[in-house]
Amino acid sequence: MTEQDFIPKTYSKTKDSGSVTWSSPSNIALVKYWGKKEDQIPENPSISFTLDNCKTTTILSFSKKESNDAFSFDVFLDDDKKDDFKPKIETFFKRIERYLPFLKEYHFKIETSNTFPHSSGIASSASGMSALALCLMSLEKELSENISQDYFNQKASFLARLGSGSACRSIEGNLIVWGTHQNIDGSSDLFGVKYPYEVHQNFKNYQDTILLVDKGEKQVSSTVGHDLMHNHPFATRRFAQAHESMSKLIKIFKNGDLDAFLKIVESEALTLHAMMMTSMPYFILMKPNTLEIINKIWAFRIETNSKVCFTLDAGANVHILYPEREKDAVLKFIKTELVAYCQNGHYISDQIGFGAQQIDN
Ligand code: DP6
Repeated sequence: MTEQDFIPKTYSKTKDSGSVTWSSPSNIALVKYWGKKEDQIPENPSISFTLDNCKTTTILSFSKKESNDAFSFDVFLDDDKKDDFKPKIETFFKRIERYLPFLKEYHFKIETSNTFPHSSGIASSASGMSALALCLMSLEKELSENISQDYFNQKASFLARLGSGSACRSIEGNLIVWGTHQNIDGSSDLFGVKYPYEVHQNFKNYQDTILLVDKGEKQVSSTVGHDLMHNHPFATRRFAQAHESMSKLIKIFKNGDLDAFLKIVESEALTLHAMMMTSMPYFILMKPNTLEIINKIWAFRIETNSKVCFTLDAGANVHILYPEREKDAVLKFIKTELVAYCQNGHYISDQIGFGAQQIDN
């Protein structure tokens, strides 16, 4: 598939007004996307677990308008009008207009809500942008004669990527690859694809408990962080390392070697933050409690032989990943030893999930 394949020819149907609803999850990267080229093309391949409980639900209502000369939309979060969300969506619409030429023909009302608290430090861009992309695809489907399920998902992921890179990994589940990798058939820089090879039972229902260490706004946005990978002294090596991590994971997913898995996952998380600390300007998103938690996890592993491990996003919160069979033991460990490091004792229990769902209006 190329970009051209996502430009529609003509629409055979018309639709004056209506409304569609999608619920789309967040995802957590195992191999990290950090650094991009123009048009949200990633510098390296990444892979993520799709999550289950952390999601955004978006209702998109549309009605034909008189003139087609500008985008027209209103955004609401939990029933509150959010004009500060508009510039990001306007940029998104500009980027995707080529692929959805009907955008200026409608006025849109975008009503969105998250299952996780807004000020939790959990990025809502992956779930939010993927939910919006799916709603727009549902409208395109209503205007078109026939759109296959594969094309629908691929184009939704392609559009979501143009909203926020990691959002392209939230359309389907439960293990999604984005970015071309020589050993992964069908992998693409343009959209996320389901991981196509054997995955060991050890990874079934993998758990992710998110410890909310810092719920505040990040001091440095992901977009700025990605940009700092241009001319970064370690960029070339880092991008090569991501390819190597992916190759190692192919073997690990097959044989279920959790000791090898946790080494890759933790190394990827720390490398992501090492890139931040070695950018110019440099910055640190981890907090003292992030490090306290990491050290506690390492100590717990030595004491109990557990396979629990951590990963980090571009923030201070810690994702604790572990196999389903360790659920009781790890939750007990979290409650007795880690909750103290969370802001207001707040954490979110999640697990690997199967992707976005359309909801009947
Ligand atoms: C650290 O997808 O938020 O979570 O493409 O600029 O919207 P933009 O960035 P974003 O970057 C996420 C980076 C990450 C790692 C990852 O999810 O792979």
